[in-house]
Order: sequence, then structure tokens, then C-alpha cells
Amino acid sequence: MELTPEEQAMLAGEGGPATRKAMQILVALGTIYGAQRMVPVTSVQVSGVSYDNLGQAGLEFLTEMATGGGRARALATLNPAGVDVEEPQPLGIGDPFLTNQRRVLEAYTRMGILSTCTCTPYLVGNLPHFGESIAWAESSAVCMANAVLGARTNREGGPGALAAALTGRTPAYGYHLDEAREPTLTVLVRARLAGTSDFGALGKVIGEHLARRPERPVPYIRGPESASLEELKSLCASVATYGSVALFHIEGITPEADCMTPPKETLTIGPEDLARARSALSDAAPGEVDFVNLGCPHLSLREIAHLADLLRGRRVRKEFWITTARPTKQMAERMGYAQTITASGAKFAVDTCCVVAPIRGRFTGLATDSAKACAYARARHGLKTRLLPFEAVVEEALR
Ligand code: F3S
Repeated sequence: MELTPEEQAMLAGEGGPATRKAMQILVALGTIYGAQRMVPVTSVQVSGVSYDNLGQAGLEFLTEMATGGGRARALATLNPAGVDVEEPQPLGIGDPFLTNQRRVLEAYTRMGILSTCTCTPYLVGNLPHFGESIAWAESSAVCMANAVLGARTNREGGPGALAAALTGRTPAYGYHLDEAREPTLTVLVRARLAGTSDFGALGKVIGEHLARRPERPVPYIRGPESASLEELKSLCASVATYGSVALFHIEGITPEADCMTPPKETLTIGPEDLARARSALSDAAPGEVDFVNLGCPHLSLREIAHLADLLRGRRVRKEFWITTARPTKQMAERMGYAQTITASGAKFAVDTCCVVAPIRGRFTGLATDSAKACAYARARHGLKTRLLPFEAVVEEALR
């Protein structure tokens, strides 16, 4: 790879051992993927935050990087942690997990990485603009960045994203290059889509189709006439989960679509495909649901306001977690939404999520509007699931 003098200096150790290690990681990644050079990044989103995923070895690596002088050179935020470290008690998660999770966050903070832990960094101030090169790790956020914001990122692993934060660089390959962003398959949706769960079901259908094709086409989606930010984040989370998709275009909706030509090869998706997807994600009988979650990906302020309307003056009867970013919850508190929600018995699980929290064995069945949460709840926690529209999820919690 061709490195600038500044990048060569980092590789030679002039910025200290952690920066050298970070540049070594990036050069190794760039060499593997055939990058010719590095590209500067202005925004990073780092995964590998939950102690449940990292374990002691991961914590030691982060501590070593912090002790070795690692210092963020780009705006960087974190993926969800394994517990809300400020209010862990309501979630039933304590020591030793809590202490270890705090150590992880301390190591990141020492490196100048903001300890906002969210998969929706674009909702809380880590918002790149169109065409900007960034290095994000969380798969749903990567898809939102590429498809909806028109920023450019590959799906970074934890070490690659941390290395990008500490150097302000990432290797220029994949979705940083124009040619990888061209659509190669038209997806014609001949079904009415209503709400986050429908967009999640669509993501499952598209993702599973693409996962069967080794060349991994970039889809150009036609059919949806509109999509809210929340529906798009649900689609991104799902299509990334079921097909490792990091970029799509939607005619008339996403920013790069209008200057692209729909490919001739077409996959048509009808109402029956969506019905099959919904049904496949709903193996829990109503009586088996003992855990309810909204906020995969993390809830927006608009969703929280809607939730407060639905819960006002009512009382939930099941364990109900509202997962969101701390700044979003703080705004919800100012508006009184958070107080209305907690008065119902629902619990905020801030800066964490049901997938990365250590909850194995605590529950049997999960109700959610997130197709992504269904996949991970099954795989990681052995839960049965029910995929329902947002409002029906709330009703399930009240039942
Ligand atoms: Fe976010 Fe966790 Fe879902 S990271 S996208 S809430 S699995």
C-alpha cells in the first residue's frame, strides 16, 4: 500500500505503541482486501463493547491500547454495551459483569472515544454527510450510513474500527470506491408495507435471497413509495442480518438511487413472501411471550413519543425493555415521555440491547417489531419469538 508520510510515521511508532498497532491492523486489512491507499475518515463507530462479547482477553487488549497512548483522531462513538452502567439494577444485571463492563468503557473513554453506546449514532450527533468516508462497525448502522445517508463505509470489525478511530484512516477498498456502489439486481416490491415490522420482514426476504448468491448483488429496490427513518433503520438492520447487506438503493428515496440505472435482472417480492417471513419469525405462541422489546435498532425520539402515547395511564404485565441511546432518553425525559413510559412499568435499557446483554436463560419468548432481534434472540439466547407491528408489541406487554 502507498502510505503518506504521516501514515508511515504512525506505522514507525512516532505516535506511540497503540497508534503503531492500529496502523499495523489497517495495513494488514488493506493488504488482504487489495487497497492501494488509505482514506481519511471523519466518523467512526466502534463495535466490541459488551463485556459479554469481549471477555477478559478483549478487555486486556483495550486496556493495553489505552495505556499505549491510543487517542482518537476522528469523532468516534461506541456500539451498545452489555448493560446500562448508570442504571443496571432494574435490568437485573450486577457484578462481576457490571464492573468489567465499566472497565471496558473506561478504556474507550481514555482513548477519547465517546462513551455513547448506540447502534443509531446518526440520531445522536455522529452523523456523516453524503459522500463522506467513515469507518463504522455495527451492521445496521453501516447499512444506514451507506444506503440512507450516502456516506461510505465497509462493515468494519471491532479492531478495524478502533484502529480507524486511533489513526483517522481506513483502507480505501469496497464501498469507499464508486464501482462497488453500483446496483446489480433490481428488487421489485409488489406489496404494501406498513411500519417497522413490515420493513424488517422485507429485509429478511431480500437478505436471504442475496445470501444465496456468491457475488452478493447490490439491490436497487423499486416499489415502496415512502419510508420513514424508523422503517429504513428496521430494513437496514434486517437486510444486514439475513444477507450481510451493507448497501442498497431505493428508487425515489435513497440519495444515490436517482443517478443510477435499475439493473435488468429483477427479483419480484409479493405479499405472500412477506407473510412467509413474518410467520417464520413468529414461532412463540402468545402464552409463551414473557419478554418484550422495542428498540432494535435503538428507538428514535419519535418512536419514544409514540410509545408514551400508547402507554399513558396503563400498566405493563411483562418484562418490557425500551432500548435506546442515552442522549435520546435524555431528550425523552425533558419532554416527559420517559416518565410516562416508566410509570407504566416498562424499563429503559439505555446504551445496551437485548442481544448483547447477558440474559441467557431468563426468558422463554420475545415479542418485538424487529426482524433482526428475532434472529439474534434465537441464536444467542435460545428464545422463541413473535414479530409484531410496533403497536401490537405494546399490546403484548400489556396483556
Ligand atoms: Fe442495535 Fe442491538 Fe439491535 S446493537 S441493531 S439493538 S441487536
